Amino acid sequence: MSRYLNIQIFTILYLLPWCFVAVLVSGNDVVDDPGFDMFFQTNTEEMQDVPIYFEKPLPTWLRGSLIRNGLGRFGLGKHNFTHAFDAFGKLSSWKFPGNGSAYFTTKFLQSDFYTKSIASNDIVPYLMFESVTPPFNEFQKLEALARGIDNMNVNIVRFTNGNSGNFEYVTLNDFWKIYEVEPLSLSTKKSITAGIPHMKHLTRSAGFLSLLSSAHPLPEHATNNHVTFLSSVSLIPGIKSKITLVRIKSADDREAIAEWEVDKVPYMHSFSLTKKFAILFAAPFYINVPKMLRYAEPFDSLDWFENLPTAVYVVDLTNGHVKTLKTDNVFTMHHINAFENGNSDIVVDISSYPSPAFVKNLEMATLRDPVKRNQFDTHALLKRYHINVNTSKISVELFKAPKDIPFASNIDMTTINENYRYKQYCFVYGVVLKKDNIKLSHIALVKKDLCGKGEDAYWYISTHYPVEAWFVPTPGGDNEDDGILMTPVLDGDKKTSYLAMIDAKTMKLINKAYLPTAVPFNLHGRFFSDLF
Ligand SMILES: *[C@@H]1O[C@H](CO)[C@@H](O)[C@H](O)[C@H]1NC(C)=O
Ligand SMILES: *[C@@H]1O[C@H](CO)[C@@H](O)[C@H](O)[C@H]1NC(C)=O
Ligand SMILES: *[C@@H]1O[C@H](CO)[C@@H](O)[C@H](O)[C@H]1NC(C)=O
Ligand SMILES: [Fe+2]
Repeated sequence: MSRYLNIQIFTILYLLPWCFVAVLVSGNDVVDDPGFDMFFQTNTEEMQDVPIYFEKPLPTWLRGSLIRNGLGRFGLGKHNFTHAFDAFGKLSSWKFPGNGSAYFTTKFLQSDFYTKSIASNDIVPYLMFESVTPPFNEFQKLEALARGIDNMNVNIVRFTNGNSGNFEYVTLNDFWKIYEVEPLSLSTKKSITAGIPHMKHLTRSAGFLSLLSSAHPLPEHATNNHVTFLSSVSLIPGIKSKITLVRIKSADDREAIAEWEVDKVPYMHSFSLTKKFAILFAAPFYINVPKMLRYAEPFDSLDWFENLPTAVYVVDLTNGHVKTLKTDNVFTMHHINAFENGNSDIVVDISSYPSPAFVKNLEMATLRDPVKRNQFDTHALLKRYHINVNTSKISVELFKAPKDIPFASNIDMTTINENYRYKQYCFVYGVVLKKDNIKLSHIALVKKDLCGKGEDAYWYISTHYPVEAWFVPTPGGDNEDDGILMTPVLDGDKKTSYLAMIDAKTMKLINKAYLPTAVPFNLHGRFFSDLF
């Protein structure tokens, strides 16, 4: 009996600490990021001009609309998307007419892909970033290849039509095709596939797949134009693929600025402009054409070469002259800003990664698993490249992080005061996922001071999940950081979102308005001060 008791006591004493550990681990893994799953859950609600109420009066100068693009629906009928980036695009807007009121609108992008899928109550075959589960059959894969990518869920940009002077609000993915939307109602107008521009001396277009472009066109300095790139994959052995730098004169009027041949086509998501130059970082992350044609899964048809350098193309916008430079192996999704510093130094700031692995990790199976999603490295590293255009030398500069904000340089999804684009600037605002290296859902908004004046700061509330924040400058403000950062934040406790206004000087929350619904994970957007 006593021996039996002893064993029992021993068992209890032995097990007790493990129970605590188990509670702690499960608490850590599940309980403390409530609602984070809603970032990656379908929200079918649509609404237009629903009044929202801020806790404090809005600044009297605040007029305009913030429009953002992002994810809305992660599955339909018999299929789910395997990668978060493939969720059907959903737009959201916050309208400020300037009289103290504010209105929220959210609608799905009515792409062909979306409307046909809704009509069939299933995800119909189109090309995506990755694919669906259960997978398409061989015939459906061919159909997907033929139709291409149609889900423009990444960004929204406004072009000024060079002929009519009218604004064109377009939604984009890393693709040549775009969708035009009506910016006040967020209804979808039409798809636009501009003609492929060519340099006069290189006019052939047959034998190329000219589809891959950038979700991040940039305004060309002192013009109404934008600039982007177009990759043309050669399907004919012996003929090289090429990259074209493209001037966007309107949504469907494009001209080639420069064109150059490449042995392999790199995947690029964004690039940089200065007043005079375009700078493209072509990491050795190359399209494997046979794999692409065989599996019809673009992201899994890219080969990463960790030992190859990254090519840097510097294109003179005034004469189309292209310089090809090299730097150490590095991968980037997002360029931040660039400027010319004196006669020969081009400064380019990027959010860098040692490889594209983190993008692969944003698969639904990982994001929805409260343990797995915390097990990969999400941290970007802000890098400043100095490119000497005379000597073709490139050097890399890193920024110090203060002791109390060790993650200050680990930002991606960055924005700046757009009045400082192409200029020497001090502040970049970005998102740090997994800020403490523990949980993906521990998301901080960081202000990084590139001028080293000790003004790094951040905003963080546990169980609140922000996304990219847009900087709206205070009219007539004297300082670069005079303005408000706006970001939709998912409140994991309340299971709904609010629009946060954060003072960019102090990174303190100054105002917020809850929305009637949750906004799933959002990628990019911008504020249009004359749209209300
Ligand atoms: C799709 O995802 C939903 C939500 O996670 C799940 O309930 C459903 O079983 C999934 N369906 C398939 C076919 O994977
Ligand atoms: C503010 O402007 C909007 C749009 O013009 C209008 O519908 C609304 O009634 C106005 N609100 C107030 C309080 O004046
Ligand atoms: C670089 O080249 C430009 C144009 O040729 C010249 O004006 C400039 O002085 C050069 N800069 C340096 C640092 O050599
Ligand atoms: Fe992007």
